[in-house]
Amino acid sequence: MNEGMGLLFTNNSQGNINKKSSDHCYQVGRAQSGDMGAMLNLWSVTPGLGVGKGDEEKALQVFLERNPSTCLVLRIDKGLIGTVLGGFDGRRGYIYHLAVHPDYQGKGYGKVLLNRVITELKFLGALKIHLFVFNDNQSATEFYHHLDWELRRDIQVFSWDANRDNK
Ligand SMILES: CC(C)(COP(=O)(O)OP(=O)(O)OC[C@H]1O[C@@H](n2cnc3c(N)ncnc32)[C@H](O)[C@@H]1OP(=O)(O)O)[C@@H](O)C(=O)NCCC(=O)NCCS
Repeated sequence: MNEGMGLLFTNNSQGNINKKSSDHCYQVGRAQSGDMGAMLNLWSVTPGLGVGKGDEEKALQVFLERNPSTCLVLRIDKGLIGTVLGGFDGRRGYIYHLAVHPDYQGKGYGKVLLNRVITELKFLGALKIHLFVFNDNQSATEFYHHLDWELRRDIQVFSWDANRDNK
């Protein structure tokens, strides 16, 4: 799947960490470069994500180095089962690759990761946070609606492939 854009959601609400009880003991921490293999594996088995050029190891490493406090992984028994990549550009926060392994979905881990990255982005100074959802990802769309994210109908997303020559 390429990195095309879909629905744009915005959040500027409070980012309290919500630790929902679950069957397992979990740990959320900063993603390390040694986690990249497990992250890429998780994304390859989790439908709904736009995995593209930005997910080759070199590009991912650059993203992790630029955004150390907002790239997070969730572990259970040392196994990596959840990710979220947050980026702060000095103005807005952006969230990519919120993913929970299919075997662990519906247990509160996605919300834990989302709330944690919101908290970290707010700490850096983000006043507003955006994320992108493919138009055909109905499940994620309903997830963000359920968590009160605002679906922007006043914005269209335009993209430019940086490999193209400028007009
Ligand atoms: C989207 C995703 C991250 C959600 O994570 P999750 O761990 O399954 O979700 P949670 O268990 O944390 O759910 C949190 C809340 O959202 C609700 N929810 C979860 N999925 C939902 C859905 N598809 N529709 C409506 N509500 C949903 C839960 O009931 C829960 O509600 P509550 O807090 O009121 O009890 C996960 O399903 C996933 O990895 N999907 C595939 C990848 C993807 O599409 N990512 C989004 C990319 S933009």
